[in-house]
Amino acid sequence: MSDNIVWHEYAVNKDVRAEQKNQQARVIWLTGLSGSGKSTIANLLEQKLVAEGKHTYLLDGDNVRHGLCGDLGFSDKDRVENIRRISEVAKLFVDAGTIVLTAFISPFRADRDYCRQILGAAEFIEVFIDTPLDVCEARDPKGLYKKARAGDIPHFTGIDSAYEAPQAPEIQLDYVADESATDTVTRLYNALTAQGLL
Ligand code: PPS
Repeated sequence: MSDNIVWHEYAVNKDVRAEQKNQQARVIWLTGLSGSGKSTIANLLEQKLVAEGKHTYLLDGDNVRHGLCGDLGFSDKDRVENIRRISEVAKLFVDAGTIVLTAFISPFRADRDYCRQILGAAEFIEVFIDTPLDVCEARDPKGLYKKARAGDIPHFTGIDSAYEAPQAPEIQLDYVADESATDTVTRLYNALTAQGLL
């Protein structure tokens, strides 16, 4: 940060905006391998929340990489910067009183912890979509695992780039074979409400 920069406090702050929206602003941070179901789950959960009248915003890996993070690739350094930018954007949305859902692989623990730190523990809900690599690879919805195995995509998460699983996520969504996405989202929604996180 440059010198001579001073933070301004405004009267209309996060609490005022969240109260106006009648909700607790926070980030529901989904993390997991490519193909684990992050985007599908985030999409369904957002629809459920919006149907309840909640104000939400969904930040998704593939989409954000079309714009805000369009200059970044998949080296460790670029992934760190990707998650740093997303964390700052998520913080702005929380400041606007919004419930933010994020769907990024976010493979590194330190980067997820950075987001937890800048938001504060109460506003960061880490959800580990714990779908095993062999299941993600069998699904291969975009054909990326096949390409990665053939050596056509370097640094592919779970193949030749690390995924550091959360050690103490607020919610761990275990893989259940043959469960529908809707049922998985119901499990997540129930876990969130049971813990008073929504
Ligand atoms: S990260 O690691 O959090 O910065 O990644 P993210 O921004 O979530 O982007 C993941 C999506 O990018 C596609 N993709 C790759 N993923 C992993 N490794 C490599 N090398 C790669 N190249 C492209 C892939 O479609 C990911 O989408 P999801 O939805 O996770 O499958």
